[in-house]
Amino acid sequence: MKLTVSDVTFSYNSSLSLDGVSFELQESQILGIIGPNGSGKTTLLKCINKILKPKSGSIILNDNEIQKMSRLQIAKHVGYVPQNSVSPQALTVFEIVLMGRRPHIAWQSSQKDVEKTWQVLALLGIEHLALRNFNELSGGEQQRALIARSVAQEAKVLLLDEPTSNLDIKHQLEVMELAHELVTKQKLAAVVAIHDLNLASRYCDKIVMMKNGKIFAAGNASSVLTPDGIQSVYGVEVTVNYHNKIANIIPIKPIAAIN
Ligand SMILES: Nc1ncnc2c1ncn2[C@@H]1O[C@H](COP(=O)(O)OP(=O)(O)OP(=O)(O)O)[C@@H](O)[C@H]1O
Ligand SMILES: [Mg+2]
Repeated sequence: MKLTVSDVTFSYNSSLSLDGVSFELQESQILGIIGPNGSGKTTLLKCINKILKPKSGSIILNDNEIQKMSRLQIAKHVGYVPQNSVSPQALTVFEIVLMGRRPHIAWQSSQKDVEKTWQVLALLGIEHLALRNFNELSGGEQQRALIARSVAQEAKVLLLDEPTSNLDIKHQLEVMELAHELVTKQKLAAVVAIHDLNLASRYCDKIVMMKNGKIFAAGNASSVLTPDGIQSVYGVEVTVNYHNKIANIIPIKPIAAIN
């Protein structure tokens, strides 16, 4: 499994929302995408999932250009958990996770797909939610149900858009531990847009820091999460302490307007 993003440019209108974005991701790695609101994180994930079509550049998954892959092929390889999601119909968690099997189902779901769905629900510790209506779950429960759907899908690349934003501190750690476990044990790769810099530094093998659609810095956590870098990108003065090699970023105060 290898994902190569080369010089990707995208615009919704006259201005560029992604401008020359390039990175590589190998299997068993989590890549964190960080950056302020509107810096292009969701747009980038949508380009990787072919929901949006880049203006230029290429996205290659294992020698296959994403633009040339069918929706079904993409669905077999890429699992996407959006930032906000509402199910159009009143579906149960079980049905949502079973839907992850759809790229693999010929006509009708088989006993095997039903068994796989229960296995995944158990793996994610959400069997008790199986018969609940998805739209009536808490944000955190929904996040876990959607990650379960990607696992049922047997996706090789997970695209997680702020998977921890609705979660309490325990579930934040649990979701990131889960992502780490899936990525290492099942040799997946994950691209995770995330606002929590401390979680990013703890769980991401690589970090891409975006500003105005461009990559401002990329590399391992300690090279990207520097006080100067964070100040330039977020306009906030911070101190960075290391505790057992995990960065602990403490915001001090916002600084005068930057661009
Ligand atoms: N559907 C759209 N139409 C027009 N402009 C859009 C659309 N979606 C996003 N944008 C713009 O593209 C830029 C990047 O947005 P994007 O959603 O990728 O940011 P983000 O980094 O995910 O932000 P956040 O942290 O708030 O989720 C922003 O300037 C945004 O206003
Ligand atoms: Mg976003």
